[in-house]
Amino acid sequence: MDFIFSLLFLGIIYVLLIIYFRSRDPELHWNWARLNVDDLSFPEGFIWGAATAAHQVEGACDNNNWHAWEQGGDGDGRDRIRGGAVSGAACEHWTRYPEDIRLMSNLGIRAYRFSLEWSKIEPEEGKFNQAALDHYSVVVDALLTAGIEPMITLYHFTHPIWFMKKGGFEKLENVAFFQRFCEKVFNEYSDRVKKWCTINEIEVEATQSYFKGDWPPGKQDGQIMGKVMQHLLEAHVRVYRALKILPNGDKVEIGLVKNIFQFDPWRPWHLADNLAGRLLNRVFNDSIIDFFTTGRFKIFIPGLVTVDHFNSQALHSNDFIGLNYYSHLPVKFKWDRNDFFEFRARPTEIPTDMEYSIYPEGFYRALKQIGKLGLPIYVTENGIADFQDDRRKHYIRRYLYALSRAISTGSDVRGYYYWSLLDNFEWAEGYEMKFGLYQIDFNTQKRVLRDGAVAYQEIIARHD
Ligand code: BGC
Repeated sequence: MDFIFSLLFLGIIYVLLIIYFRSRDPELHWNWARLNVDDLSFPEGFIWGAATAAHQVEGACDNNNWHAWEQGGDGDGRDRIRGGAVSGAACEHWTRYPEDIRLMSNLGIRAYRFSLEWSKIEPEEGKFNQAALDHYSVVVDALLTAGIEPMITLYHFTHPIWFMKKGGFEKLENVAFFQRFCEKVFNEYSDRVKKWCTINEIEVEATQSYFKGDWPPGKQDGQIMGKVMQHLLEAHVRVYRALKILPNGDKVEIGLVKNIFQFDPWRPWHLADNLAGRLLNRVFNDSIIDFFTTGRFKIFIPGLVTVDHFNSQALHSNDFIGLNYYSHLPVKFKWDRNDFFEFRARPTEIPTDMEYSIYPEGFYRALKQIGKLGLPIYVTENGIADFQDDRRKHYIRRYLYALSRAISTGSDVRGYYYWSLLDNFEWAEGYEMKFGLYQIDFNTQKRVLRDGAVAYQEIIARHD
């Protein structure tokens, strides 16, 4: 009898725990057969845009941490970049930007998010390259002339080699160098550029570069990962405050760009999957949102990483929040001391060419989650890698439906920047992932609008 009671008791505890985990941010699934994805509405003045990042499109980024990384193998004969690719000439966007701006106009977009390549502007410590500064100034003017509003990202995964040699963002004291660069470029363009993103996806950079070791500098150390997250958050706060007191600071919007992948349990009823997912959500999503609502950045994974940091200035350090959203990553627990989980795309969902599937409901959830910050939201990235171009249209229509639904239920979303305008250098995936609205033949640099991208063009035309 006692045994039965104990079993019953444990069963109840188990069920309660599952209910607790599941209630936090439940995995949504809509009945698409009953939904009309053309039923869209967007607020007056909603911004339709596209996004890129310097190292992925410009070409000749040969003085930064990624360039250094691309040149080496990982020591056991494996390529660091898929197919042994190097970013090289990329899309030659540095010289072909006039053509690319025409491509933007052809799509009907009115906004362009791009990043400045720090290593071109400050190739040596403290020495600024006037030609590079002038280049971006000309790009800004060309965009404005075409009626396209520029949004600048100050840091999108790359930094100069001299900064890398100083230890990059592993060292808190190096944040001062980044701040100096930001102030310099802000003074150059803030008379014309009204939207500024400080740092792109702190959590992605920290994980890939310092935990998984797939990105430069290729470290695998949870504690360093945590410190880099902390230092990048500090960099954001300091840069925000420094720029706000410069001329035009009060006239522009400045914000961080946060990526959200929800770590949903692969088996909803499985306690270990729920626990692993909860831990990952805590470390990579909630911790950053908490930092901006409480000033405290706290992450803890037993034996792996402990960070507890407080800065009250974090509370008012964003005029908006940028959200990058692609999908969720269902987590499956594994009995392996060194690797206690794996990600598995749900077989019921349509795959993309990346490791994750198409999951528009997650976009809705992420908008609600990021909305907890109480800030205006720009969707600074959203898009699909689809080599065959047989899912892009579907993806665009469903994700924009989810966006519209989030807005109609109260989310304050002001704009949407599709990732990406062009096929480009997809970091460790090299050139094999095709995110572009425009396909690029990298032998000829010819750009062609993908059929699937027409869905975006049509939605813009209907809702602009
Ligand atoms: C990054 C981009 C990247 C995109 C697609 C985002 O995490 O900001 O640089 O190309 O995802 O993977």
